[in-house]
Amino acid sequence: MSASDLLAAARRGREHAHARFSQFKVGAALETADGQVITGCNIENATYGLTMCAERVAMFKALSDGHRTFTRIAIVADTHAPTPPCGSCRQILWEFGGDLEVILGNTTRETARFRLSELLPNPFDVRFLSDEPPKR
Ligand code: THU
Repeated sequence: MSASDLLAAARRGREHAHARFSQFKVGAALETADGQVITGCNIENATYGLTMCAERVAMFKALSDGHRTFTRIAIVADTHAPTPPCGSCRQILWEFGGDLEVILGNTTRETARFRLSELLPNPFDVRFLSDEPPKR
């Protein structure tokens, strides 16, 4: 699948966004290692704080369907500048997706491309939970 196919899937996901408070619709399309695509959109609600970003919706949908390994995620918003994932999404994408390719786009074109490790350098993850002090 091409990057533009994945961006097109993210645009389709974006059509389902619940963004009545911000009016800022976001779509995501997460590619699994075996080439399936799981989409997500942002979901806002009346308490505001329980809003869920498109990227985490896509990842949680994928995990709950049993997918475990991922290669790329495309993220789309209606902006001229690239709209990168928020800090919370970077953490979740890292923990469950590893060093994904992150393809950013708007409603008409690709705007930027990163590795997740560029967006989240020195991440905290499960490796630290079993860390032991260095032996002398
Ligand atoms: N949002 C996302 O869905 N993904 C991002 O990477 C950034 C922000 C959503 C959350 C909220 O519904 C709206 O965009 C404005 O912040």
